[in-house]
Amino acid sequence: MTTDVPPLRVALIAGARPNFMKAAPILAELERRGRFRVALVHTGQHYDAQMSDSFFADLGIREPDVHLGAGSGTHAEQTSRVMVAFEGYLRDAPTDLVIVVGDVNSTLACSVVAAKAGVPVAHVEAGLRSFDRGMPEEINRLVTDALTDVALTTSPDADEHLRAEGHPPETIHLVGNTMIDTLLRFRDLAADIGPLVALGIEPGRYLLVTLHRPSNVDDPDNLLRILAALAAAPLPVVFPIHPRTRSVAERAGAGDLLGRLNAIPPQGYLAFLRLQTHARLVLTDSGGVQEETTVLGVPCLTFRENTERPVTISDGTNTLIGADPAAILPAIAVALRDTEGVHRVPPLWDGHAAERIADVLERWAAARAQS
Ligand code: UD1
Ligand code: UDP
Repeated sequence: MTTDVPPLRVALIAGARPNFMKAAPILAELERRGRFRVALVHTGQHYDAQMSDSFFADLGIREPDVHLGAGSGTHAEQTSRVMVAFEGYLRDAPTDLVIVVGDVNSTLACSVVAAKAGVPVAHVEAGLRSFDRGMPEEINRLVTDALTDVALTTSPDADEHLRAEGHPPETIHLVGNTMIDTLLRFRDLAADIGPLVALGIEPGRYLLVTLHRPSNVDDPDNLLRILAALAAAPLPVVFPIHPRTRSVAERAGAGDLLGRLNAIPPQGYLAFLRLQTHARLVLTDSGGVQEETTVLGVPCLTFRENTERPVTISDGTNTLIGADPAAILPAIAVALRDTEGVHRVPPLWDGHAAERIADVLERWAAARAQS
């Protein structure tokens, strides 16, 4: 960007747990360069201290400039609350570019509002597809990408999907993975096993579990079957439990099972990274955890029928095991036998994705200033 280009006024959106670790390095890099004026917008989709504030503390993210206070609700309730509040924000705050990350309802809501207000949208993690419209996130990805002016992607398959959907190639930029920028920044801090030992957790000898996809946890009978299978696993389980999952489990009377599975509150970023780093095996339905275990080299069983992150299977340590509770124990047995998996870190998952994003946006702003 030449010096006569005024700073780009950016609204960076974050609202739910997996947004914070993706947004943190982008915020830091854009502010470091001084050519962007960034407003950090917290939508309030997640609001418990353990689902939001703890990430600001662990990752050193500054206070948001604005908090939209959306909270929980049905999809329409939550999405519309973000939309109304963000529309009001954009009306009062002249903005050149809205940056959204990931695939949550906040991502969709702010993209739609920006596009209708005539403000260009940059989407970080564009182009991922599970091809499963039963997943709310797939709808969010499709709508967001349809409105995206600058597509910032984590893997070549995402570029292919966007090209196949008609996105001009010059709008697609393979930049790498900002969630992995954050992981690599904090990885050394998580190596310390002291806090695990203090909790009575034996490094390398436990199964770390996270579950929160509606298709797995919203039906109480299905969730009970999953928890019962996990309780029969041949190694101790540690289960940081998402609030959505805890409320269904408690209503289903799963208190005993939760005790046997060492269910603990959602963990802060560093504590959870430590739990991933030293796990023998991870079982999850999280998108981000599939990526993080790939970089950490920890075997991961993904309890879903599909993934929008196939590079974690082709390159990484991830195995899809389907979503039948009966598949859990056989898959664990196989994973514990196979100790020799070959894996590599996907290209550009190297800790420098946010720098590439800032480069792309500087070029985009310069081209726009000339047009
Ligand atoms: C959301 C995202 C999902 C993402 C997940 C990460 C959508 C459609 N879903 O799912 O893609 O993988 O976040 O964690 O955007 N709750 C609390 N405290 C909180 C937040 C939520 O108790 O701070 C409870 C509420 O009962 C709420 C439920 O969790 O109704 C679900 O929250 P919501 O944000 O709607 O969806 P998630 O399941 O968290
Ligand atoms: N995570 C965390 N504490 C937990 C569970 C997950 O810090 O108790 C982190 C995890 O390391 C990753 C992100 O949250 O960085 C993934 O978010 P989540 O699984 O909620 O959402 P998804 O990636 O499935 O959208």
